[in-house]
Amino acid sequence: MIPVILSGGSGSRLWPLSRKQHPKPFLKLMGSHTLFQQTVMRLACDGMEAPVILCNQQHRFMIHEQLCAIDAGAQLLVLEPFARNTAPAVAMVALKLLAEGRDEILVVSPADHVIQNSTALRNTLELARPAAEAGELVLFGIPAEQAEPGFGYIRCRDEFLCNGMQRVEHFVEKPDMVTAQAFVDCGDYYWNSGIFMFRASRYLDELRVQSPAIHESCIRAFEGCSLSETTLRIAASTYSACPDRSIDHALMESTRSACLIPLDAGWSDAGSWSALWSEQDKDEHGNLLLGDVVVDDSRDCLVHASSKLVTLLGLEDLVVVETRDAVMIAHKDRLQDVRHLVNELDSEQ
Ligand code: GDD
Ligand code: MG
Repeated sequence: MIPVILSGGSGSRLWPLSRKQHPKPFLKLMGSHTLFQQTVMRLACDGMEAPVILCNQQHRFMIHEQLCAIDAGAQLLVLEPFARNTAPAVAMVALKLLAEGRDEILVVSPADHVIQNSTALRNTLELARPAAEAGELVLFGIPAEQAEPGFGYIRCRDEFLCNGMQRVEHFVEKPDMVTAQAFVDCGDYYWNSGIFMFRASRYLDELRVQSPAIHESCIRAFEGCSLSETTLRIAASTYSACPDRSIDHALMESTRSACLIPLDAGWSDAGSWSALWSEQDKDEHGNLLLGDVVVDDSRDCLVHASSKLVTLLGLEDLVVVETRDAVMIAHKDRLQDVRHLVNELDSEQ
């Protein structure tokens, strides 16, 4: 199996800590390693080859430094000139491996997650492997406990495959809040964890059926790539023709060949300040204080200080994030809108 680590997104909901130049996977949000480093480490285990890493070409040196710091290396670095989302990016890896006659099992993993129990994840990957070897597109599901519009939602049929896996009945990517709530109320939906497992050839075959335009443009883009032993550099001139689509939209919503295995490994998306707030231990007043922070008579606040002492007095339900060049102060109920704020600031961030 080959870990294929996706580290190209921007993580705009964690602004101002997460930036285009320094996106979420490369931040130390929890613990002493970045999310990217944690992802590499948890997938370095028996049965796994060295990872393939996909990233924006601007981030290659940061990736190199972060790999060196944990004494790890990649078997291949795929350098994208700009983001075209996950469906084209993974297609480029599959094309490269197949060109070498290596029809391997890919474990596609985001680099922006927290997984508390790496052993449980590895055990689940092993359980899923026979299905992927037999040509299934495997999803890893987390029971959906609350309405969260940023996720994919999956319901399974009563059709069981090996090792407790179930055939997927339908997959809905990022439903609106009302639909997400209806799915949660239903009680039998999973969130998509964002981890996928399939054979390289199987992914490309299904992409050709579900999204022929992506398949075709990736084949052309692959022909225009420059290759060294450990680097695949994608040319801007050909990659620009690839539609900007995620695997979820391009393939998982429409395929009839997906199956799901439940994942119970302490998964969390860490995708937003509200996710971080709800997942970490707070003090006795409900405050989560990260960095050099002093609060008095304040409750249910999240404060992240990077470079200065931050003090709060008499406040409730606020999120304050201080960095060297920007400060965000937001009400806790408005955190899903940070993305919109960032879009407005786009040229300045
Ligand atoms: N190399 C590369 N290139 N990586 C990318 C690109 C790209 O163009 N676009 C996104 N990524 C990376 C991100 O850095 C992240 O690690 C992963 O791919 C997933 O992309 P996100 O943009 O974070 O997706 P999402 O969080 O909105 O949704 C996905 O994850 C959810 C769980 O966190 C979907 O798979 C949802 O269905 C899922 O529920
Ligand atoms: Mg994400």
